[in-house]
Amino acid sequence: AKITFITQDKETITAEANSGSVMELAVNHNVRGIDGDCGGVCSCATCHVHLQAEDMEKVGRPNEIEADMLELDDNVSEHSRLSCQIPISDALDGVVFKVVN
Ligand code: FES
Repeated sequence: AKITFITQDKETITAEANSGSVMELAVNHNVRGIDGDCGGVCSCATCHVHLQAEDMEKVGRPNEIEADMLELDDNVSEHSRLSCQIPISDALDGVVFKVVN
């Protein structure tokens, strides 16, 4: 799937992968603001992204553990996800993630 990241300083990075998580893809492409400090186990929120409203259904909503973690972040919104909790699949083709931090 081809995935696009938009950083806080409006840099647009498009990357492609068929496996792994969205966080791993971002880290591999040096997307600024996605740090993945906890290694993808849903406990740091340094991989926080905002989805576009129209992509919410495609990507899905956070489970309870992820939602609890997101609550601790000041910039949480109804379109928030932790990108380490989003596995890459063909369904994500064309999705745009806005980096929060
Ligand atoms: Fe730590 Fe996603 S990488 S919560």
